[in-house]
Amino acid sequence: MRGPLLIAIDGPAASGKGTLGRRLAAHFGLPHLDTGLLYRAVGWAAERTGRPPAELAATLRAADLANPELRTDAAGQAASRVSAIPEVRANLLKFQKDFAYQPSGAVLDGRDIGTVICPDAPVKLYVSASLEARADRRYRELRAQGADTIKPRVLAEMAERDRRDSERAAAPLKAAPDAYLLDTSDMDADAAFAAALAFIEGKGFRSAGP
Ligand code: DC
Repeated sequence: MRGPLLIAIDGPAASGKGTLGRRLAAHFGLPHLDTGLLYRAVGWAAERTGRPPAELAATLRAADLANPELRTDAAGQAASRVSAIPEVRANLLKFQKDFAYQPSGAVLDGRDIGTVICPDAPVKLYVSASLEARADRRYRELRAQGADTIKPRVLAEMAERDRRDSERAAAPLKAAPDAYLLDTSDMDADAAFAAALAFIEGKGFRSAGP
């Protein structure tokens, strides 16, 4: 082992980065932060209360992230909107850095982890998949939850979110130059995990467990 293992995972919506982050965290016994939840909590609260998003970001607490409504697509769209505000991003920086630089190491997933939050992370993964593959995954997920939607709508909303997240001026979604690129269009979660694990072990990190 070479110092704490900090794994920075970035990628667009429904690329599989969340599932991969959870599995890597469990494998290496590390705490995991889904940073999208921070933006979702701010966007959701801003819509409900009308308070300025930057102020909400400055006072966000870990307990605010447990709200199940943050998982909805409406919260995702609200998150994407407030995440373009530079003061919101600045006010969420400390929360994320404190989490990332715990002595144990950590896993964080989001859009700017390898580029802005942890530019010196020893492991950076950029997880992507085609728009069609991601929309198809999200559509199946929504249908399984009993949501009444159609695939073209899911695809259009995802395309809009991709565009907003990639074209914004403040910390746009992009791969760090030293990130390992993982295209999961034709991979299931097991295959993505195996590929990421091989890359991380190739850097000399091993699970401390049995
Ligand atoms: O990963 P997610 O779908 O939960 O993210 C919701 C939105 O939050 C996403 O559209 C963009 C924003 N986001 C961000 O700007 N930076 C991050 N590190 C994580 C999410």
